Amino acid sequence: MSGAKTAAGSSPVKICIINGPNLNLLGTREPETYGTQTLADINAEITGKFPACEFEFFRSNCEGGIIDKLHEARESADGIIINAGAYTHYSYAIRDAITAVSVPVIEVHLSNIYARDEFRRKSVLSEVCKGVICGFGAAGYSMAVDYLISVTRTEA
Ligand code: DQA
Repeated sequence: MSGAKTAAGSSPVKICIINGPNLNLLGTREPETYGTQTLADINAEITGKFPACEFEFFRSNCEGGIIDKLHEARESADGIIINAGAYTHYSYAIRDAITAVSVPVIEVHLSNIYARDEFRRKSVLSEVCKGVICGFGAAGYSMAVDYLISVTRTEA
C-alpha cells in the first residue's frame, strides 16, 4: 500500500480483500453457483469501480496464510473483506483472528450459503464480523466496499 493521495487530496480508503480456498478456481469451478468471472476479473472490476480506494488482494488455500494476513491487515487496512470459502463453516482459528481485529471486517460469499447444503448454513465467522453479504455473486464485494467507504469517511 503506497499511501498515495487521491485526486481530491484525501487519503485513500485502504481495504484488504481476503479470499480463501478454491476461490482461485472461480470462472471454471461450479459456474452455475459461483458465476463465470475469474477472481482476477472480479478484482479488476473492483479496482476500476473504486478509484478512491487502495486495495490489497490476498488469496490463499491455507488457514495459516489467511490468519497471518488478518494480523497484518489489522494494522494496515481501514477495513477488511473476507470470503473464507469452506473455512467459514468451521475455522475457529480464523474466527479468533477476526476477533482480534478492530477495523470492520465484512464476510462475503458469492452464493447464498443459507440456501445450500446443510453444512454451509452455519458460519462460525458471522458473529464476529460487522456484517455478512451473501447470494449476490461478485457484486457482494462491491457492496462491502461501499459500506467500508461510508463508515471510514463518516468516522474520519
Ligand atoms: C463460498 C461458499 C462456501 O460454502 C464454499 O465452500 C466456497 C465459496 C461462496 O463464496 O459462496 O468456497 O464461500
